[in-house]
Amino acid sequence: MLFLIKKKENLIGVGSSPFSSNKTLATLFFYFPQIINKAGLPRMNIKSLSKVDLGFFPTPIVTLSRLSTVLGGPEILMKRDDLTGLALGGNKTRKLAFILHDAIAKGCDTVITAGASQSNHCRQTAAAAAQLQLECHLVLGGQAPDTPNGNLLLDTLFEPKIHWAGQHRKGEDIPKITKALAAQGKKPYVIPYGGSSELGAYSFVNALEELETQIETNTLSHLIFASSSGGTHAGLMLGKALLNKQYELIGINIDKGETDAVPFDQFIINLANKTSQFINANITFSHDDLILNSDYVGEGYGVVGEPEKEAIALMAKHEGILLDPVYTGRAMAGLIDMIRSGKLTQQDKVLFWHTGGAPSLFAYADKFKH
Ligand SMILES: Cc1ncc(COP(=O)(O)O)c(C=O)c1O
Repeated sequence: MLFLIKKKENLIGVGSSPFSSNKTLATLFFYFPQIINKAGLPRMNIKSLSKVDLGFFPTPIVTLSRLSTVLGGPEILMKRDDLTGLALGGNKTRKLAFILHDAIAKGCDTVITAGASQSNHCRQTAAAAAQLQLECHLVLGGQAPDTPNGNLLLDTLFEPKIHWAGQHRKGEDIPKITKALAAQGKKPYVIPYGGSSELGAYSFVNALEELETQIETNTLSHLIFASSSGGTHAGLMLGKALLNKQYELIGINIDKGETDAVPFDQFIINLANKTSQFINANITFSHDDLILNSDYVGEGYGVVGEPEKEAIALMAKHEGILLDPVYTGRAMAGLIDMIRSGKLTQQDKVLFWHTGGAPSLFAYADKFKH
């Protein structure tokens, strides 16, 4: 028994007392619930959830050696979730795989979700719904443009029903529309803004398990990504705790979020805790566990400034990789600034999680005029 626990310590880098924190204990349960049970400790069954097959996994990891050289910075790896495959890819493929499994298991025939008019989440939801033959309703912020472009153009190809919601880009109108759909005899399934439910967040616990199969993560100093509706962030927090990883998990805040009822940092913590409970992980998070860097929100959500443009240009020119103007361009601009300001040094090893979004570049064409 001792031997097995010791072996596990080596594998996951547990400290001197394997039972020193509830996080460590949960990590052991995560891998060896049967062993812990035999040891006479309270059994905790971390749920393993089912998903539908929507993309191509594991997504590749590449090294951005030219970018590192140009910036004189740390080794930078990139996890290519822009290559998940579903209708030009992105992080929402992971979330939707678990969420739509749940929708089908519950006998729903219709899905409804919300986002900005250039929402990557809505594009992938419409594509996944087409694949699974579910009726799809998108509640989009703004008004119908004369000529759709970028994500919105792609949305229309999947033929969802689009509800234009003006200022309401975060799903404020979903309850009203869901009620109307139910009254028509449909069985609607509500996917919250950004797919940031417990299932959506869980998909990023699963994503960190995937990462473990690809690289030695104990040598990473930082994992950096764009954080906007919170599901990616909450799932990565929980996954990191379950795997007992030591790297700094830095979410770059994308959205000023002035209109949200719950402050965004609190929302992420709540979702991480709800997801932890949902899978019986028995881990509780507080503000001490969260790094949400809001230094790069600039003029707010979807407003492209010089930092995003520079990040997009550097990545394109030196690595031949596309970032997007709203999320990954902003998150990479943050990473670049952290190198220039000395927060990240050549001693570090950083993984940037590319969460997708490049289709919206087309909708921002006027911002890239030379
Ligand atoms: C391309 C891209 N990156 C990052 C995010 C942020 O992920 P989350 O909503 O889980 O915070 C989104 C969300 O819409 C996105 O579309």
